[in-house]
Amino acid sequence: MKIFVTRILPEIIKSSLTDDGHQVSEWTEKRDLLPSELIRHCQAADALFSVGKNHIDRHFLEECRHLRVIALCSVGYDNVDVAEATQLGIPIGNTPGVLSKATADTAFLLMQNVARKAIFKHQEILRGNWGFFDPMADLGIELHGKTLGIYGLGRIGFELARSCYRAFDMPIIYHNRGNNELAERELAARRVSFDELLQQSDVLSVHTNLSTETEGIFNRDAFSKMKASSIFINTARGAIHNETDLRLALEERQIWGAGLDVTDPEPMAPDNPLLQMPNVAILPHIGSATIETRMKMMQLTVDNIRAGLSGQRIPHCVNPEVYDR
Ligand code: DGY
Repeated sequence: MKIFVTRILPEIIKSSLTDDGHQVSEWTEKRDLLPSELIRHCQAADALFSVGKNHIDRHFLEECRHLRVIALCSVGYDNVDVAEATQLGIPIGNTPGVLSKATADTAFLLMQNVARKAIFKHQEILRGNWGFFDPMADLGIELHGKTLGIYGLGRIGFELARSCYRAFDMPIIYHNRGNNELAERELAARRVSFDELLQQSDVLSVHTNLSTETEGIFNRDAFSKMKASSIFINTARGAIHNETDLRLALEERQIWGAGLDVTDPEPMAPDNPLLQMPNVAILPHIGSATIETRMKMMQLTVDNIRAGLSGQRIPHCVNPEVYDR
């Protein structure tokens, strides 16, 4: 069968598909496919191996309703019209679990970077400003014993909470629909309302999906309720915070700093004022970008493709309802 891949795969991953007798066709250009190009390539395929931000919307799905499986090489699936895929009987695969530690580590890295203004200080050296020693200039803040607030305590949030609890003795609070019993038992985490999360967190880190409920939830009103000494971290999706409101909250010192691995849009423009702020650290969506994690994500994507093409239930499915039909 034919598999269309939206990037060039490592040889070892590609051969695990070709060894099964499948034909793999890769998108080799260093740009994202246009929606019409994605449709054209998928119309000649039986499965889509989707890497990067491809819009798997209603139009795409209707044009490519013959696909046996769409396997995303990501845990997030906010780029997919899942209801439409389910309606058309197309299983959508993702890569849960394997990127939790790497993504949590990125949040941990950002938190420390912001607290000590590390990226800004590095830029200062490049600008030739490592000069006269002023003991009170541009000081950072300490993290030991500060309260970590997690918005969306699932697998990734749990990993960050565990690191912060162990490394810096940080008490953990979180806001979720339901209780996270493991975090309550192992990390003494406490579930609080959204307002309490905003008011009590010294570091507030976002680990939720992008949905109609969470889009723009960190807005002017939310930032105005946070501590003036607090740090906001987002490694989930850029559209969960309102960027203009975040910039104003930083400029007006409603919050102390921010660390972002995700922005809206991506990529962020190089002249974005947030990039010049001392208390801000921005990374280019590298949450899962380690060799180990990316290989595991690709392997899970392969597992989903192989199962889907052989007519079996895919192991990591975001719309298992397709199998109840
Ligand atoms: C994910 O897997 O969702 C990461 O954000 C990479 O897109």
